[in-house]
Amino acid sequence: MNYHDTLSYLMDAFGGADSLQKLLGVGPSALSNYRRREHLPLNQARKLSNIAPKFGFNLDPYTLKISVIDDDRKPEILLIITGGIAAYKALELIRRLRDFEFSVTAVMTASAQQFITPLSVSALTGNKVYSELFDLTDEQEMGHIQLARKADLVLIAPATANFIGKMAHGLADDLASTLCLVTEAPIFVAPSMNPHMWTNTATQDNCAKLKRRNISFIGPDNGDTACGETGSGRFAETGFIISQIQQKLLQKHSSADIFPSEKQTKPLDGIKILITAGPTLEPIDPVRFIGNRSSGKQGYAIAYACAEQGADVCLISGPVSLEAPLNVRLIKVETAQQMKQACADELDVECVICAAAVADWQVKQTANAKLKKSNNKPPEIVLTETPDILSWIGHHPSRPKLVIGFAAETDSLKKNADDKRARKNADWILANSVLQSGESVFNSDINEVLFLSKTGAEYWDTDSKQAIARKLVHRISDYFSDVHVSGVQKKENI
Ligand code: C5P
Repeated sequence: MNYHDTLSYLMDAFGGADSLQKLLGVGPSALSNYRRREHLPLNQARKLSNIAPKFGFNLDPYTLKISVIDDDRKPEILLIITGGIAAYKALELIRRLRDFEFSVTAVMTASAQQFITPLSVSALTGNKVYSELFDLTDEQEMGHIQLARKADLVLIAPATANFIGKMAHGLADDLASTLCLVTEAPIFVAPSMNPHMWTNTATQDNCAKLKRRNISFIGPDNGDTACGETGSGRFAETGFIISQIQQKLLQKHSSADIFPSEKQTKPLDGIKILITAGPTLEPIDPVRFIGNRSSGKQGYAIAYACAEQGADVCLISGPVSLEAPLNVRLIKVETAQQMKQACADELDVECVICAAAVADWQVKQTANAKLKKSNNKPPEIVLTETPDILSWIGHHPSRPKLVIGFAAETDSLKKNADDKRARKNADWILANSVLQSGESVFNSDINEVLFLSKTGAEYWDTDSKQAIARKLVHRISDYFSDVHVSGVQKKENI
């Protein structure tokens, strides 16, 4: 087949001349030039190669040969593990990636091997672990170019400040950093380090450089870090990492994905939402705590439903036994004070939904050692009030546009919830009776809600917590489309 034929062939494969021009970002004259010169520049061939799977085939950018996609082939993740304390979390990450039917090949830096052994990594991936750049046997059976080429996605987890620095400066002094330069697959970085290292200007400059090169970051999260400090630097939650790469790899191949300008919008696209969920646990001593009953199911269902409709969701959760919902950034906390601090760090949002069952009291003086049972009398514990997060947000100078709270009541549902809405300056309250249909709402999968706004009340019949979540998300979408419409009208009136 001569080149002219190949280009005609590509035109057919990519939906005709117009579509090919659009994909290449060129006009008809450039396309006819390529034909005349019998040459498609490599950067253009790569563009087509990247988009080809969305048309149902693979295209080799060097030979321009088309091959059929093997639908049963599992997506290949090249996992680069670098030497941070969170390296041990890579083991759980591999297990979960395998559960999600990804094929994982791991590369470990020398320092990663100080934290975990290649043997455990290999046992979990089911593949050989690579680490040496100059391993002749490997160079024969699987050269580093090959290793990088077969990957659908490169994930660096955990990524240390040092490794991020090496990537930013294009260094290639070991197998892991060399692969980052060789690969044409999307690269995701999940950093983990001490909060001061993360916020250091050098690290932030390096990250900014990488982001400009289209390298994606997952995390880090806020919270306690292994070095005993609190701040940003925690390795992101496994579930969140997986949801991010799943989204990248398993996205539906619709024409909207192929031509981004035709992307279908979702009702909450671009809306940032902060959600609190689960209980808070207020320590009495290192062993005991005060807490409310809460499974977190309703809050997690709302987080899932908001993300499903396109919102950028941050979920701040007390201790629960639920997985992070897909496409949601999860920050784990324990106490009301920590939940408030996390909310303060993430308050730059359009909507807040306080679904957490925050403990009402905290112990004034938490004991450093376990309180002993004695024959005398039980210890006297002095309690103080926890911060009311909803009320604090409701009265905040940077109050988000839409503030939503919950109210679990045992009696006078409407009156108590109405008072609560006014007192805490919330826009809406979802009130539920703690005892509904003879069953406790707390660990249940169903809920029954009285929806209260400034203008009225509405009863939402018993339904699954997921259905209640979708109903609420519907309301939120309507609210933001009204805000948008009235914003436009306002502009027109000016
Ligand atoms: O005052 P009460 O706990 O009944 O209020 C319930 C609402 O207030 C819920 O939305 C809950 O998440 C929020 N809340 C809070 N911080 C507290 C107590 C409650 O954000 N300390």
